[in-house]
Amino acid sequence: MRYRTLPGTDLQLAALTLGCWAIGGEWWGDDADDEAARALIDLAWERGIQSFDTAPLYGRGHADALLADALGPRRHEATIVTKVGVRWDTPGGHPRSDLSPAHVIADAEASLRRLGVDVIPLLLTHWPCEAKTPIEATLAALEGLREAGKVRAYGLCNAGPELVDRALAAAPIAALQTPYSMIRRDFEGALRDRCGAIDGEGRWRQRLGVLAYEPLARGLLSGKFEGAPPRFPESDLRARDPRFAEPIWSRLQPLCEALRRVGAAIGAPPAALALAWVLRQPGVSVALVGAKRPAQLAESLRALDLLERQRPFDALAPFVAAARP
Ligand SMILES: NC(=O)c1ccc[n+]([C@@H]2O[C@H](COP(=O)([O-])OP(=O)(O)OC[C@H]3O[C@@H](n4cnc5c(N)ncnc54)[C@H](OP(=O)(O)O)[C@@H]3O)[C@@H](O)[C@H]2O)c1
Repeated sequence: MRYRTLPGTDLQLAALTLGCWAIGGEWWGDDADDEAARALIDLAWERGIQSFDTAPLYGRGHADALLADALGPRRHEATIVTKVGVRWDTPGGHPRSDLSPAHVIADAEASLRRLGVDVIPLLLTHWPCEAKTPIEATLAALEGLREAGKVRAYGLCNAGPELVDRALAAAPIAALQTPYSMIRRDFEGALRDRCGAIDGEGRWRQRLGVLAYEPLARGLLSGKFEGAPPRFPESDLRARDPRFAEPIWSRLQPLCEALRRVGAAIGAPPAALALAWVLRQPGVSVALVGAKRPAQLAESLRALDLLERQRPFDALAPFVAAARP
C-alpha cells in the first residue's frame, strides 16, 4: 500500500481507502451482505488499508456499526473518516443537511458512540448546509470538537470553490472529499486550484487533502457491464442514475470497451486502470474505493501496480477525452 499524509496533519490515509457506503446495505440493491463485508474489511486491513470512509447515512448507522464490529480493537488504530450533518428525522424521512453547531456536536457524539472510539480521526461536513448555518459557525463547532480531543482533523465534502475559499479563510481545514473519475471531472479547474499548485521546481504541492469519491462511477468503469444498459432493482440508486441509461450509456461505451481492451493487453482489471487514472491526477491525495466483497477489492488493489505506467494511460486518453460530458 502507499500512504498519503494530509497536509498540516499527521493523518496517514491509504492511497486506496475503503469506501463503506455500499456495505451499509441501503440504496445499493439487494446483494450487500454483512459476512462478505466483514471479509472485505479483513482483506483491506491485511493489504495495508487502515483507512475507511463511512458516514451516519450509510445504512443509517449500519455501515458504522459493521465497520466497528469487524475491526474490533483495530478500530482504535484505524484512520476512520466519517461525516456530520445529514439527518433523516425529517418530515417524510428525506435526508437533509443541518450543519448548525448543535447538530454537528450531537451528530459527532453519536458517531463516536456507534464507532466505539474516543476520537474521530477525520470528520467532514457531508453536504453543504440546507438549514442556513454559515460555514464559519459550523467550522467553529468542528474546531471546538478538535480542541476537546474528539476529532483530530476536519474538512468538507461536496463543496464548490467559493465554499472552500470561505472555509480556508475561517479554519485549518485538512481535507475536501469530492467526486472524481474518468467520467466525472468537475474537480479539475477552480476546485483543484484551491487544493494545491505547482511549485517553482515544477512539482505539485498539495495544500488541502483531496479524497476522490466514486472513482469507479458506481461500478460503471469496472468493465463488468456490457451491451444494453443494466437493469437494477428499485432498491439500487443506479436504477435512477442517468449514466446507466440512454443516451449517456451509449456515449460511455467506447471508454468501457477501451478499459477492457487495454486491461486485457496488460493483464490488469479495468477497475484497476480506472482507479490508477484517478490516483495519477494532480491534486488527488487518495481514492475512496467502494466494494461489496473481497474479490472486488482484490481487483481494485491492482491499481497500485499501474501508477508508474504511462502507455496504458496514453492508449486510454482519447476515450477518456471523448467521454467528457
Ligand atoms: N461524501 C459523499 O457525498 C460521498 C458520495 C459518494 C461516495 N462517497 C464515498 O466514496 C466511496 C466510493 O464511492 P462509491 O462507493 O459511491 O462508488 P465507486 O467506488 O465508484 O463504486 C463502488 C461500487 O462498484 C462496484 N464495484 C467495485 N469494485 C468492483 C469490481 N472490481 N468489479 C465490479 N464491480 C465493482 C460495487 O458495486 P456492485 O457490486 O453493486 O456493482 C461497488 O459497491 C463510497 O463508498 C463512500 O465512502 C462519498
